[in-house]
Amino acid sequence: MTAEEAKSAIEQLSAKIRHYNHQYYQNSVSEVSDYEFDQLLEQLVQLEEQYPQYRYPDSPSQRVGGTITKDFEPVYHTYPMLSLSNTYSEEELTEFDQRVTRSLPAQAYEYFCELKFDGVAISLRYEDGLLTLAATRGDGVRGDDITANAKTIRSLPLRVKADNLPPTFEVRGEVFMPRSVFDQLNQEREASSEALLANPRNTTSGTLKMQDSSVVAQRKLDCYLYSLATDGIHVETHQKAIAQLEKWGFQVSPTYRKCESIEEVFRYINDWEEKRRELPLDTDGIVIKVNSTQQQKLLGSTAKSPRWAIAYKYKTQSAVTVLRNITYQVGRTGAITPVANLEPVALAGTVVKRASLYNADEIDRLGIRCGDTVSVEKGGEIIPKITGVDTSRRAAQSQPIQYITHCPECNTSLIRQEGEAVHFCPNQTGCPPQIKGRIEHFIQRNAMNIDSMGKETVALFYEQGLVQNADDLYHLSFDDIYALEGFKEQATQNILNGIEASKQIPFPRVLFALGIRYVGRTVAEKLAEHFSSIDLLAIASHEQLIEVPEIGERIAQSVLEYFSDPENQQLVSELKQAGLQFSLQIDNQNSENQVLSGKTFVVSGVFEQFSREEIKEKIKLHGGKVLSSVSAKLDFLLAGTNMGPAKRKKAESLDVQIISEGDFLAMLD
Ligand code: IVH
Repeated sequence: MTAEEAKSAIEQLSAKIRHYNHQYYQNSVSEVSDYEFDQLLEQLVQLEEQYPQYRYPDSPSQRVGGTITKDFEPVYHTYPMLSLSNTYSEEELTEFDQRVTRSLPAQAYEYFCELKFDGVAISLRYEDGLLTLAATRGDGVRGDDITANAKTIRSLPLRVKADNLPPTFEVRGEVFMPRSVFDQLNQEREASSEALLANPRNTTSGTLKMQDSSVVAQRKLDCYLYSLATDGIHVETHQKAIAQLEKWGFQVSPTYRKCESIEEVFRYINDWEEKRRELPLDTDGIVIKVNSTQQQKLLGSTAKSPRWAIAYKYKTQSAVTVLRNITYQVGRTGAITPVANLEPVALAGTVVKRASLYNADEIDRLGIRCGDTVSVEKGGEIIPKITGVDTSRRAAQSQPIQYITHCPECNTSLIRQEGEAVHFCPNQTGCPPQIKGRIEHFIQRNAMNIDSMGKETVALFYEQGLVQNADDLYHLSFDDIYALEGFKEQATQNILNGIEASKQIPFPRVLFALGIRYVGRTVAEKLAEHFSSIDLLAIASHEQLIEVPEIGERIAQSVLEYFSDPENQQLVSELKQAGLQFSLQIDNQNSENQVLSGKTFVVSGVFEQFSREEIKEKIKLHGGKVLSSVSAKLDFLLAGTNMGPAKRKKAESLDVQIISEGDFLAMLD
């Protein structure tokens, strides 16, 4: 493909993707499947990698991320991001209305009502139609620059095209994680015994501050816009501002309503109290805004919040029931989770029978006892929570709960590490739910994908003494399985085929399948990509581990512990012998030669012929790896002009070879 052809292919692909995106978000029409859409994006990313000169600032490829942000730069907001005063009662809302009437003597006014979206506030700046800055609220005056992460939100226009567009404008709204995405994420985490995420709001907030925007892209965040700020054009009402946002292609929740009186506002509140649960995101109330922008100015703001708007919060739904008893579950990692078993009670459309108690501290905090009358609430969380105890109804003979000291499954003494809230059963090799849990995790779809086996098969194989560890699966014979009750020839063969096929599963998924604590799918991908083989990962130091984006102390510690355990070393060695993939396959379809294969680079300073990003792309295209900091294991420091002296000094002291742009290009030849 010539450069000209690549340019035209990139432009055509981009136009196509933009069209599908527009159809999906503005017209609610899916013209292609998610898979086809992702394929198109992938093609675009690949082409742009080869021809970085045609990567435009508003390319849809930014939706897939790829930027690593080590530190989020602070940014000052052009207009402060205020908050809203809250009310929980109709009386207070009536008082708000009376204050507005008093402050606008003899004037008619209208309200504009919206739902209060339970997410994270964001401010977006557009210059010449191009999204140039996305910032968090921070303290209202100064937030963090999260532009790369915000660009992965597919409903957010990267460029606005319209006649008479103000040269710069800011829009504000709420980033959220749709409930369906959140539930899916938690299902995956549950399957891999990772701690469940508390609610979509906290998850959104954590996601927006992730270092690697490609991980953010996978989290499928979304955004509703609810305000427009510009000095360039005057909009008379909030309603018109909202209409303008919609016209420019911003996603606005269609749940708003203009209300002529406070009575109409009450109707709106009433109408949405139940209906809001059908929306794709959590909402916790409504926002009432005076519609006229001129009247908003007259009403003004306090230091914290505008006087022209107020939030009315819905009361969280709760129910009263009785705590029957507490049972304790043992997870794959040995973590103990106490579960409250309740007298069934109807709450927000479902019957609640169980509530999570998280850990011993939570039981102490609540001070609950078996037989107590308790309140349960369903907020943003998936599992209902016990929020209070009515001690006045406590039976005289009731006793405080004694947290278990021994594993309910294998009777081993539980341990609780310092600083940890959770108790663990340390009997990894002898505790049945841990053994079965590890194998179930190993075979699951996102790991080794041995889908011809299920939970029941694992339990049966374990009980029959056929499998104790994942590697035992690879020693199963036809006769072993066929001899079991209920296994005919076909079912037996399917299981063996599934096990055989799993030998082709790529390294990142094999790494995930090992079930290292805190190493979920994404972390496994990051580690695999960075270290490229299990041998290099197994000898990585703490320092090298935390150098990888998204890898913190906790994960690094867990990886170190995993590989220092002789049982795990044995398992990995057995699995290797069985023929599993324990290193990344180098993609040889790449048209470029792979002369840099296995070599590591740190790129620093300014270069003559290429931008820093282009140089990094070149390294990757030729099979090399780009690291972010100089260490003794680094092969080359590629130094441009203006490189900081500290880096050079460190490289010199560690005997790392320092090369110039010219040296680098010579290496490629
Ligand atoms: S308008 C002056 N409209 O609520 C503040 N805010 O406590 C103007 N929020 O930080 C905000 N839904 O994150 C507005 N429809 C909506 C909203 C909304 C949620 C959040 C927003 C803001 C917080 C205010």
